[in-house]
Formats: sequence, C-alpha cells, structure tokens
Amino acid sequence: MSALDSSIICAFLEADGQPVSGDRLAKDLGVSRVAIWGRLEKLRAAGFIFTASPRKGYILKEVPQVLHPTLLDAHSRRLKVSLPIEYLESVDSTNSEAERQLANGREAPFIVLAQSQTAGRGRLGRKWHSTDKGNIYLSLALRPFILPERLKPFTLWMGLAICRYIEDTLGIKLGLKWPNDILSPDGKKIAGILTEARLDADTVRDLIFGLGLNISPQQDFPADLKSIASSLAQASGQHLDVNALTAGIVKNVFTSWEEFKEDRWAHLFKEYWARYDILTGKVVTIQLRGEPVTGMVEGIDEVGSLRIKTSDGKIVLISSGEVTLRS
Ligand code: BTN
Repeated sequence: MSALDSSIICAFLEADGQPVSGDRLAKDLGVSRVAIWGRLEKLRAAGFIFTASPRKGYILKEVPQVLHPTLLDAHSRRLKVSLPIEYLESVDSTNSEAERQLANGREAPFIVLAQSQTAGRGRLGRKWHSTDKGNIYLSLALRPFILPERLKPFTLWMGLAICRYIEDTLGIKLGLKWPNDILSPDGKKIAGILTEARLDADTVRDLIFGLGLNISPQQDFPADLKSIASSLAQASGQHLDVNALTAGIVKNVFTSWEEFKEDRWAHLFKEYWARYDILTGKVVTIQLRGEPVTGMVEGIDEVGSLRIKTSDGKIVLISSGEVTLRS
C-alpha cells in the first residue's frame, strides 16, 4: 500500500463527492501533477472510478466493493485509528495468523484483517464460511494480563458494543445471542465472535478477539447456512461500504477493549444487555455435560454464565455451549 495513494484517497473522502483539483492535490502532497495523474490511473485499475469535472478536477464516483488496503487506510486515518493493521488478501485464519505473530514476539495490540480465509474457524470446532470478499474477517491481538474469569464478560461486552455500533451508524438493531452470536432482526446469524486465549499460570497472557461479520449483499453461503445466515446489507437493504465499515469496526473494537481494560464498561453493560440480549425470558435447550437442559433464561450472573430456570424451579448456570431457542 502506498502512502501517496492513501493521501490522495483521503483528500477525495474529505471532499465528500465534490471535485478535487489535481493541481491542489499535487501542491498539498508535494508531488508533480503527472505523478498524481499516474496514481489515479493505478487506482482506476484497482476498481476506483474517478470522473473529470472540467476546470474543477476529479470526482471520486465509486470505490472497490471488497476490502482494499488503500481505502481502508484512508478511512482509518480519517477515524484516527491508533493501532497497526495488518491487511492480508488471503490467510488460513486471522486468529491463527494473530496467534503466530504473538508467538513470534510481535508487540501487541495489533489487528489482522483478511479479504478471505481458507480455514476460518468458529466456536466449538466449527468452520466459519470465509470465501466472500466483501465481509469482515478480523482479529484483535492483545497481551492483556487479565484474569481468565474476565474472558466471558469481555466477549459479551464486545458483542454488545458491536450491536451498539451498528445501530448507531446504520440504524439496524441486531441482537446478541449468548454468548457470541450476533443476529439480524429476523433471527439470522450475521456475525460470530471467537475469543481465544493463552494462559500463563492463572492470568491471560495472549488474547485474540476474532470477529466474522457478513456485510455484502451477495453471499455465497453453502446450502446448510442459506436459511440461517444473513449479512448487514441483506438485513438492511442498504448499500454498504465495506472499507468504511471495517475501519469503523476496527476503531470500535479497540475502543471497547480499552473501556473493558480500564473498567469503564460495567455501567454501560446493563443498558446494552437490556437492549440487545435476545434470550432473557425465552425457553431454551442447551447441552450440559452431554445432557440437554431445558428452561427459561433468567439473564446472566456476574461472570457471564447463563442462568436457566428449569421446570422444577432450579437455577442452572451454563458457562459454555450452544443454545437452541425453543419455538
Ligand atoms: C462463531 O460464531 O462460531 C465464531 C466465528 C468467528 C469467525 C471469525 S472470522 C475472523 C476470525 N478468524 C477465524 O478463524 N475466526 C474468527
């Protein structure tokens, strides 16, 4: 990714659809007019569409619909994203890549983002469908020194914060299905979270927060996912810019982590939980040590375990597993 390209795109984003003069750009960026023209040609070849407006300059009409490092960088600069972002066209899994880099001693925090994954991983040993290039496959790598019992509240907090961010920016009210599923208003899965940690005695040494978020309208879901999965564009009917959204999500994810680390989250947690949790008051079934447990969800306890009241009035605490909603 070239810093000059990113500065050029930043100028177009600032102009917000208005013409940008080639002369002005050349002066501001300290390069020749010909150099600007050459860079615009390169960007055109990468999917950007610029039109020329006589005597006024160029207008940015269209941007690539897949994750693009220059565009992502320009949006991140505008949003003042303050941590390094590693962009990859393809990787096995962004969580695995983050894990390898942490193991090699890379300084944290950092973000790994990929256009597609060849072996995207979900919870409980599942695969995460990752071939569509207009989605978010993101990992935030941290060395947090927090206690393991804070991992579940952390994952819940991050899921709620993403729901909040999407509602604030796009006006779509998603729901959090404990512990890590983010669902569309019609109950289809739009995003999933995979939090992975390496423990050192009794503290967390490395922590990777992985997020898969479906965005684009065309999704090549395999047959078994078609009826249960969706994307933000499908749920909202809006045209969404994956690069702008990714930069916003990166910023939100990092800010939410900082709020968690600095204990600035608990007062907001209650409010967000009341707004986005979709299980409280519902009858669910969950496997507990291989046995199905059915009962009414009564919220969560202080460490984030799900409280289920069974038909004989007993409260069962569930710390992990897959919840099935009973119709
Ligand atoms: C789930 O719902 O089971 C969790 C899915 C998490 C998928 C994301 S995509 C980015 C990161 N890399 C992975 O391999 N998995 C997570």
